[in-house]
Amino acid sequence: MQEHNVLILDFGSQYTQLIARRVRELNIYCEIHPYNKLPENYTNFKAVILSGSPNSVRGENVLHPDLSDIRGKKPLLAVCYGAQYLAHFSGGEVAPSNTREYGRANLSFVKNNELFLDGIEAGSQVWMSHSDTIKALPENGILLASTTDVINAAYKIEGEETYGIQFHPEVYHSTDGKKLLENFLVKIAQVAQTWTPDSFVDSTVAEIREKVGSDKVVLGLSGGVDSTVAAVILNKAIGKNLYCIFVNNGLLRKNEFESVLAQYEGMGLNVKGVDASKRFLKALEGITDPEQKRKAIGNAFIEVFDDEAHQITDVTWLAQGTIYPDVIESVSVNGGPSATIKSHHNVGGLPDFMKLKIVEPLRMIFKDEVRRVGASMGIDKELLGRHPFPGPGLGIRILGDITAEKVRILQEVDAVFINGLKEAGLYDKVWQAGAMLLPVNSVGVMGDERTYEKVVALRAVESTDGMTADWVNLPYEFLQKTSNKIINQVKGVNRVVYDISSKPPATIEWE
Ligand code: XMP
Repeated sequence: MQEHNVLILDFGSQYTQLIARRVRELNIYCEIHPYNKLPENYTNFKAVILSGSPNSVRGENVLHPDLSDIRGKKPLLAVCYGAQYLAHFSGGEVAPSNTREYGRANLSFVKNNELFLDGIEAGSQVWMSHSDTIKALPENGILLASTTDVINAAYKIEGEETYGIQFHPEVYHSTDGKKLLENFLVKIAQVAQTWTPDSFVDSTVAEIREKVGSDKVVLGLSGGVDSTVAAVILNKAIGKNLYCIFVNNGLLRKNEFESVLAQYEGMGLNVKGVDASKRFLKALEGITDPEQKRKAIGNAFIEVFDDEAHQITDVTWLAQGTIYPDVIESVSVNGGPSATIKSHHNVGGLPDFMKLKIVEPLRMIFKDEVRRVGASMGIDKELLGRHPFPGPGLGIRILGDITAEKVRILQEVDAVFINGLKEAGLYDKVWQAGAMLLPVNSVGVMGDERTYEKVVALRAVESTDGMTADWVNLPYEFLQKTSNKIINQVKGVNRVVYDISSKPPATIEWE
């Protein structure tokens, strides 16, 4: 088990996950829980952080948890809403601010304190994002720092290790924010910085061994980072009792099935490659609607995986590469149900493999941590740095119906683009890239011949999590070279366009 180090209580702020990531960067383990759903063992945590919130402490739907077992008993850092919450309910005053308090501000210290003493100079830039302000500190509050517009920017409660800060230390614009979190967690709360990729691997391997014992586990490999790291850690724990299945749905990148399968085998994984391309193509025949395509691909995958899982006798566990952002319960701050409601499956109607017990070795870590854990286990850098690739693969990048010939064309185009990015040293500067095959033909001229062939669109985006994205300003020279290469080398394409739409309002994929 991980040590219970830091509990982050989420009041619905858009920045809560950032707090967790900053804490983890300090090699300290933390967990996020909804403000109104304290975990059973919450008193075991060594320190607590209260997040910000889009709500107001003065509003109707005020979020008001009972913190009597925490306040004054554990070191507590209250951020933004958290700081206002402590003030409002403990004898202080919170009111709407007169001026807009959003953006950069600079701290001036009123009283020396451990929170700022180490590594934070007067004038340090912090990020403000709030519309209420703390007019009067809570009972026994001592003012620590102010900014030009915010008098009560940081305070401490006398006789307690309780701190309130109006700004957001988790946001990069707070230049010394990470230092402040370190001062609070390491200096004040004395939490040990022992959470490292190696320690995670050791404890997870031990946990898997205890949970799974000598049972058999099946896992679907996708070629992506998460399933690969999950497989390697499980392989470390249980070796040949892990049965990996890597399905070729025929919609992967050019040569990807063969090359990734060889890589998996080279890593010592017990992996079976299943080429089901024809089955998927058949299932997709005549389908043009994007959602119908996703369904058809999803169903075909379930059938193939179920067939394969049945061939492993006595398998009792299904491993998944689920990561922390998929697990964190989101907080509803508008009076609705407090957490996302998970759909409950009708167990009787599920394929057999879905009735297996679930093991998810990465469920408590973020994507950047998955990569670090992968690197610490010696997984190839190139594999860990791969761009995300959608489950339905090229199926949702071929607009309209899918045929074997269209898949061939797009695989060739995609390979020219992706290899070109790698050769130009641009691949790692882009979050995701790919090509779309459009359902239109355009007129062209080659030699003296008139052509009437396909149009492809290239897409390259910058993003952190795919929720929002910007198109990448690829050098014109690179685009020019790539376009020439595609038109010269890929039979059936006579026009290349570059997608310059951001998300929102566009999406990354075209379907
Ligand atoms: P959009 O197009 O929604 O894509 O901006 C955001 C991210 O999600 C990926 N994506 C998918 N991944 N199954 C997946 O596993 C899907 O059906 C799917 N659709 C989009 C997309 O590649 C991008 O990274």
